[in-house]
Amino acid sequence: MKAALLRLKDEALAKLEGAQTKEDLATLKSLYLGKKGELKKVLTSLGTIPPTERAALGKVANEVQDSLLDEIARKEQTIGEGLKAQALNTSIDTSVPGRSHRLGSVHPLVQTSEVIFDVLKKLGFCKAQGPEIEHDFYNFAALNMPKNHPARDMQDTFYITDDILLRTHTSSVQIRAMLSQKEPPLKVMSWGRVYRRDDDVTHSPMFNQIEGLYVDEHCSLADLKGTLSAFAAGVFSKDAKIRMRPSYFPFTEPSMEVDVSCFACAADLSCRLCKGSGWIEILGAGMVDPEVFIACGYDPERFRGFAFGMGVERIAMLRYGIPDIRLFYENDLRFLRQF
Ligand code: FA5
Repeated sequence: MKAALLRLKDEALAKLEGAQTKEDLATLKSLYLGKKGELKKVLTSLGTIPPTERAALGKVANEVQDSLLDEIARKEQTIGEGLKAQALNTSIDTSVPGRSHRLGSVHPLVQTSEVIFDVLKKLGFCKAQGPEIEHDFYNFAALNMPKNHPARDMQDTFYITDDILLRTHTSSVQIRAMLSQKEPPLKVMSWGRVYRRDDDVTHSPMFNQIEGLYVDEHCSLADLKGTLSAFAAGVFSKDAKIRMRPSYFPFTEPSMEVDVSCFACAADLSCRLCKGSGWIEILGAGMVDPEVFIACGYDPERFRGFAFGMGVERIAMLRYGIPDIRLFYENDLRFLRQF
């Protein structure tokens, strides 16, 4: 038994000598001195040897344990000092350039919307929002487009049920705004995503609109023209002029398409934007039809209003010279990093 204890001691000391880390030491300590360690195993067999020899062997076992504990403590100190010296010798090169993180940028559609909001806010319009999944009443019926009205075909619609649809324009928000405010004056700008069954380089099934509505006792076509002139000057260029062409919307009378003077050329035939006409179409507008006021509970004899609506993508494509609407939604960083 004594020989076994001494063998154990030699074996453990040899392994401790090779230990490199504090973790190695902890493993060896548990292997030889732990509750289920090698030394315990030898000591449990002490009961099988004659009592006269037990005391002497117990003494040897204690000596083995003490010398292993001493060696572990000594090694711990050596390893600790080594680590400290290593830390002191490691120099940090503060001149190495840090890892830079690329900053994101605001999406061109958001940038364009912000410019438009800013101009309209200065003209006194407050923001109003409504749901994208809309009831037929707000999107069509209250806007003078009862069921089966042919003008509904102007906006090819995604229906969810016979009465629920994805809104085709943000004019639905204007109806909600009028219904929630009993009496004019009312001056709101609605904005958000709208949906139509369209898909080509300038039309997308989902796009963004911003619309304006002003209702008051004294509100005229001249006010609409003044507002849109200020809008064009603020969004395009301070010298921008506008032109109104007769058009048709069921919810306005008279209705018009509004063009802005070309900001890329002076009526140059090769101009990509105006194709030589000197004018670029930017939005639809008109004086609110009395039928819309009736649907919203406003007295059409007393109140007048104007409204206008535009596609944010169209304005952004004009401002930045973007040829394909799909670029806005592809999240291609090569495109987005340019803004
Ligand atoms: C309307 O949506 C009317 N609600 C605007 C309005 C409001 C007129 C108030 C009068 C008074 P329109 O269908 O023309 O009108 O759409 C407005 C703008 O949305 C268009 O000028 C165009 O720039 C943009 N637009 C229409 N369809 C798409 C599409 N599929 N993708 C991208 N932009 C579109």
